[in-house]
Amino acid sequence: MKRSVIDITDLTKEEIDALTNVAEDIISNPGKYAHICAGKKLATLFFEPSTRTRMSFEAAMYELGGNVLSMTDAATSSASKGESVSDTAKVISCYADIIAMRHSKEGAALVAANAASIPVINAGDGGHCHPTQTLADLLTIKREKGRLGDLTVGLCGDLKFGRTVHSLIQALSRYENIQIVLISPDELRLPDYVYNDVIIKNNMKCTQTSDLLWALPKLDVLYMTRVQKERFFNEEDYLRLKDSYILTPEKLARAKKDTIVMHPLPRVNEISVAIDDDPRACYFKQVLNGKYMRMALILKLLADNKAIDEVTV
Ligand code: NCD
Repeated sequence: MKRSVIDITDLTKEEIDALTNVAEDIISNPGKYAHICAGKKLATLFFEPSTRTRMSFEAAMYELGGNVLSMTDAATSSASKGESVSDTAKVISCYADIIAMRHSKEGAALVAANAASIPVINAGDGGHCHPTQTLADLLTIKREKGRLGDLTVGLCGDLKFGRTVHSLIQALSRYENIQIVLISPDELRLPDYVYNDVIIKNNMKCTQTSDLLWALPKLDVLYMTRVQKERFFNEEDYLRLKDSYILTPEKLARAKKDTIVMHPLPRVNEISVAIDDDPRACYFKQVLNGKYMRMALILKLLADNKAIDEVTV
């Protein structure tokens, strides 16, 4: 049966662990993977801006020996003529073996997956979720902290519209002894569908605050996020909230020596560039880890779809 990944829960915890093992094997033995996807095509359909996600998917496919068909701008595609997401997905299914898709509407990737005859990977749907960023985040936490359980994780900034936060909390809910600290202004708190359906339902330990300085010394992981300008209804609110949190070296001095600082990027103002050389800054490592996890995911979905042989490590 065709497998797509729309939500991080489309993958079991065991599958995510297997993907991290494959990603780590790719890091150690890239040559072993260099031709596995020869003759296969990934289509990247990006109806919303992206640098990292699209290019890391494309770099991932090239490093697997495959090819890429790229739609980088909805304005130059038939979407601008009124073509539906379902029709576009059916059309691309005639050209490619797998799709990575980003769209500004929540649920668009699911609509595409239901119409396509090839696997669809959600590369971000509106303010909803972003499962492959979570795969990058999990590999980063595992490599930097050596574990995915027994962690206090602070998520700071725009928790309302930040889709990477929603998917990460969902994933972390499956690991043991995770404490979540939600740090945001009142207006940008986590939506109820994540708070109630994930945090409360899974009995996760969770604190909510607007005070980053109070939270910092408690954290093993600090996950900063950008205020999502494009999802605001009015500019005035954005301008008022955009600089709610700016992490500076003086503030980071309150954190533990081994707290890691993460950010899905793009960064606007949330982390001072003076932190980039601090050994605790992991956001550029996340970028690289994202490419390896996307390689592992492409391999898995193509193998599950019988387009290539299964990869085992
Ligand atoms: C994130 C996204 O698109 O949700 N970026 C990314 O994919 N790394 C975060 C953001 O845009 O703020």
